[in-house]
Parts: sequence; C-alpha cells; structure tokens
Amino acid sequence: MDRPDLLMIVPMPEPVVAGLAQDFTLHSLAEAEDADALLARLAPTLRFAVTSGRCSASLMEALPKLEVIASYGVGYDGIDVDAAAARGIRVTNTPGVLSDCVAEVTLGLMIALAHRIPQADRYVRESRWLQGNFPLTAELTGARAGILGLGRIGKEIARRLEAFRMEVAYHGRREQADVPYRYFADLEAMARAVDWLVVIAPGSSATQGIVSRRIMEALGPEGCLVNVARGSLVDEPAMVELLATGQLGGAALDVFADEPHVPEALFGLENVVLLPHQGSATHRTRKAMGDLVVANLLAHKRGEPLLTPVT
Ligand code: GLV
Repeated sequence: MDRPDLLMIVPMPEPVVAGLAQDFTLHSLAEAEDADALLARLAPTLRFAVTSGRCSASLMEALPKLEVIASYGVGYDGIDVDAAAARGIRVTNTPGVLSDCVAEVTLGLMIALAHRIPQADRYVRESRWLQGNFPLTAELTGARAGILGLGRIGKEIARRLEAFRMEVAYHGRREQADVPYRYFADLEAMARAVDWLVVIAPGSSATQGIVSRRIMEALGPEGCLVNVARGSLVDEPAMVELLATGQLGGAALDVFADEPHVPEALFGLENVVLLPHQGSATHRTRKAMGDLVVANLLAHKRGEPLLTPVT
C-alpha cells in the first residue's frame, strides 16, 4: 500500500499517531535530531502535514510540495492561513466535534466561579466547616450573559445558559438573522448591560485585545469575565489589575496569553477560577477530533473533498 510521507509539525496524541501510521509514513519534526536536515530531505516530495494550531509561513516555504495541513483543534490563529492560501496549501481544522465539550466546560467554569466551588471544596478538606458554614455565594439563575462570538460553540453555550434561565445577548461582526438573542453592535454597551461576559470568538488580528481595559471597566465590579477562546483577546495585565483592585468582579479563565505561563498575580486572588486550557480535553472529544484529523488527510490522499476545510 502507498504510504506517503507525513510531517508531524508538533507531537500528536498516540491515537492520532496510530490512526495516521496505517496510511502514512510519519516524521516528527519535534523529535528529529536535526530538524533542518529532516525538512531538507522531505522538501522535494512532502505533500501532507499535521499540526495542532501552529504552522509558520517559513515552514511552508521550506516544503514547496506541501498540499495539506490538518490541524488538531478548532482554532487556527497560530497557522499562517494567508501564506497557506497564497501557496495553494489546504488547511483543515476540527470544528463541530468539540462544541458541546467546550460549552460544558464554560458552564462548569461559570458555576464554579458563582458558587465558589473550588473554595468551598478546600473549606471542607481543611475541616473549616467544623467552625461554621461557608459564606453565601452568587448564582447564575436569572443573570444576564453577553456572548462575544456567537459561532458554533457560542450557540451551544447560549443553549445551556438558557437552560439556567439566563438572559442571553451577543456581540459579533454582524447580527444573525435566526437567533433569539439580543444583538449588541457595540461590545462596550453589551459589557455594561450584562453580569457575565463570555468570550468565545476566534483568535485573530481582528480580535487581538478586543476585551480591553475599557470593556472590563464597563463590565464592572459586579461583572464576571469568562474566557474560553484565546488569551490574546483579553488585555491580560489590565484584567489582572482590575481583578486585584475589585474593579472587575471575577474571572473564569481557561486560556491565557502565554500558555502554560499564567500571571502569578492571579494565584492569590479569590475571585478567579483557572483551568489549564481544558475546553476540549476529554477522552470522547479528543477522540472525535483525532478521527476528524485522520479523515481529512485520508480524503485528500484519495483525491476527495476535505471534510472541514479552513482554506
Ligand atoms: C482549542 O483551543 C482549539 O482551538 O481547539
């Protein structure tokens, strides 16, 4: 059987490697003793590559026969898609299969922040309950949420917020015809009108720093920020300062500007819940993402249309 070369730009989870190894000859850039030598050897013929959200224009330039880059993940802000399009390189991602999971984690973060679940858990473990009851907390029911980015994942979050009888609004580049939620053309106006600002827009040059100090000040001392998109969307130093001084009520964060580095100033704050980029990190969802990566590459190998193309 024909097993063409395939470059793994970043290390891939074992099930994806096993799935790809049946139909491709794999080469790992991260594990190569001499990455430049590997690229030089593959350059004359390499057509397939797999990554997880990252591929620079210079890497594409080093691989002139490259036809397709399959990315394990929905966000592709680290892939130079303009350079790919200019070279006729197809890029695929894994939309859809992770929306439920990310929405579930989002609600989990919000519940954890409102009900102070991490603190309450520690309260029990440290036997402090014996001295008295845990302080009363906030709740989600009836509160107002504004979603920044009402795409596939944003809509799944909205459905779950509705189940909590929350009032849902959204901001995006344009108003959507067939959604029942109030549209705000102005993000600051939405931030002022809601209790929770949920960030789930794609990372890009257009959204870089979109949740600025001004937006967080509009959300205010009673407002909570939830970021399950990319750290790049939020002015992180301003967020830390506003949280520490009580000018922003709270934050539930799955993503950060410089992962896995998290501003240490957040560690001592009681009004934050922090996750290590867990949005899609379940066995079920990661399997579905891996299967979609393999299916895209196999479709291209067979000369069939890509299942989930970006470019
Ligand atoms: C996760 O952050 C993804 O982009 O899939």
